Amino acid sequence: MCGIVGYIGSKRATDILVGGLKRLEYRGYDSAGLAILHEGELKLRKVLGKLRVMEQSVEEEPIEGTVGIGHTRWATHGRPSVRNAHPHTDSSGRIALVHNGIIENYVELKTELQAEGVEFVSDTDTEVIAHLVGKYYKGDIAAAVREACARLEGAYAIAVVCRDEPDRLVAARLFSPLIVGLGDGENFIGSDIPAILDRTRDVYILDDGDMAILTREGIELCRVTGEPVRHEVYHVDWDAGAAEKGGYKHFMLKEINEQPTAFRNAMRGRIREGSSEIELPELSLTDEQLLGFRRGFVTACGTAYYAGLVGKFLLENLARLPVDSDLASEYRYRNPIIHKDQLTITVSQSGETADTLAALRMAREQGSHTLSIVNAVGSSIARDSDDVLYINAGPEIGVASTKAYSCQSLVLAMFALHMAKVRKTISKERYAQLVDELKQLPDKAQRILDDVSRIQEASAKYGQYNNFLYLGRGANLPSAYEGALKLKEISYIHAEGYAAGEMKHGPIALIEPACPTVAPAVRGAVYEKIVSNLQEVRARDGQIIAVAFEGDTDIERHADFVLRVPECDELLSPILVALPLQLFAYYCADARGCDVDQPRNLAKSVTVE
Ligand code: M6R
Repeated sequence: MCGIVGYIGSKRATDILVGGLKRLEYRGYDSAGLAILHEGELKLRKVLGKLRVMEQSVEEEPIEGTVGIGHTRWATHGRPSVRNAHPHTDSSGRIALVHNGIIENYVELKTELQAEGVEFVSDTDTEVIAHLVGKYYKGDIAAAVREACARLEGAYAIAVVCRDEPDRLVAARLFSPLIVGLGDGENFIGSDIPAILDRTRDVYILDDGDMAILTREGIELCRVTGEPVRHEVYHVDWDAGAAEKGGYKHFMLKEINEQPTAFRNAMRGRIREGSSEIELPELSLTDEQLLGFRRGFVTACGTAYYAGLVGKFLLENLARLPVDSDLASEYRYRNPIIHKDQLTITVSQSGETADTLAALRMAREQGSHTLSIVNAVGSSIARDSDDVLYINAGPEIGVASTKAYSCQSLVLAMFALHMAKVRKTISKERYAQLVDELKQLPDKAQRILDDVSRIQEASAKYGQYNNFLYLGRGANLPSAYEGALKLKEISYIHAEGYAAGEMKHGPIALIEPACPTVAPAVRGAVYEKIVSNLQEVRARDGQIIAVAFEGDTDIERHADFVLRVPECDELLSPILVALPLQLFAYYCADARGCDVDQPRNLAKSVTVE
């Protein structure tokens, strides 16, 4: 779970590499490093800490050279340190390599290399790749990389430079993302598109087992086994500015505020202007297949899993499809029974989460049709699924997932409605009503964002407490889970998301004035139930922050503080309820001076299990 970049051209490589790494910092940020080729020398620079340390370092002591590779690290093997920071070199010191992924057989490779006299200087798995490339190097760096890759088990995206071949940069991938950017007299590599988007809009998205040999004049694509390969050039049509903060204090706040636009983009081309129909032309699933599924299964990690739970509720309620769910990290290891008539749905922002990808592959291998709900175009999960529905939310840089969650829920709602229509489990009127409600979501979300003063007030009033309980029921049980996760991951306040009906079975013991309860309480099937749970909290001197519909005056009697969302169908309410919960967490964290976009111990994309 690291970010890698590479550059070959005529400009100063450090400027391009450090710029690219800054946009990849969400992938990890405990140390960083560069390797630059210049006048027959290989220059290394490694720093501990965030990218700004590297920026300062190259500002104070610039490195010349027009070819190089860079890395931002999130430690897996070996603790964060300069010694363990990439790039790693071979024993001769002429080859440097950056790596994202995990080499599973590194211990045996290390033993073998040590027996041959190689001395290791780091605790990383990556260093074995550098030494392997060094071992096989006979004057052709591409051939040496090829031979080294043949020995590796596990996951990698690597970029390699060699002092003796200053006009080539070699990259390869297996189970870790890698793209190649096409320039004019210059070429680039990156772990993802935003890393190089300020330099080029034309990219190749490499497949597992692909290799790229870059010179200033061109790019040769082949398999690591040697056969040539062709890829279409993918032209990126979203804006480079979309990956910047756009005037907001944090990416997270910007991304929360992007939700109205993101909702429109998620529905674009799927619900046409003036139409009450949902069209999902990208689906390969036929009506016959949709009718044939006997069960559904949702699997994902973290926030994406909670969006999956929103989807489960919608699919059961609308399409009458029995849907089970499990965290991908559990599902993949519990020898589950996977039926051929099961539709397996995976949800992921990055499309690279290791556990989700493994669960998806397992389900597919066992004959289940797989559908993924993904943000990152061309990501591994998207490419490994039978069907993919992109959420089109645009890049999400803040480690805390916000717009991806609401857009995943929105796309799952569209899919559930589509399936319900095909399965004839919904009346025409109800279908049209819900499609109409979907269309109103961007404006309703905007209304929440237009006046955040009450949310700021709530965070000022309650943000000093160290324990929170989030209670939810029915459609908004996932909202409670997600609200609690948002608060804990960015503000480090302990928060538990719980089913309100389970309160009496244990968590009620936590209730006291210093442990406020946050509860989505929107009018609908379980409104009275949640209100009575709130009364139970009140009776034990607990403070209550409710999230309720505008116009619901009754709720004032049961809560100490009410945050409002515009009225909508209860089934779609999790999409709106998410916004005040995200903002509440954001303002609590910001007031505590937390690093909102890069919380401690976390990385945006968890590409290791
Ligand atoms: O990229 P994914 O959606 O697959 O990531 C899944 C989780 O790692 C992610 O949602 C994580 O829980 C976020 N930090 C939540 O804000």
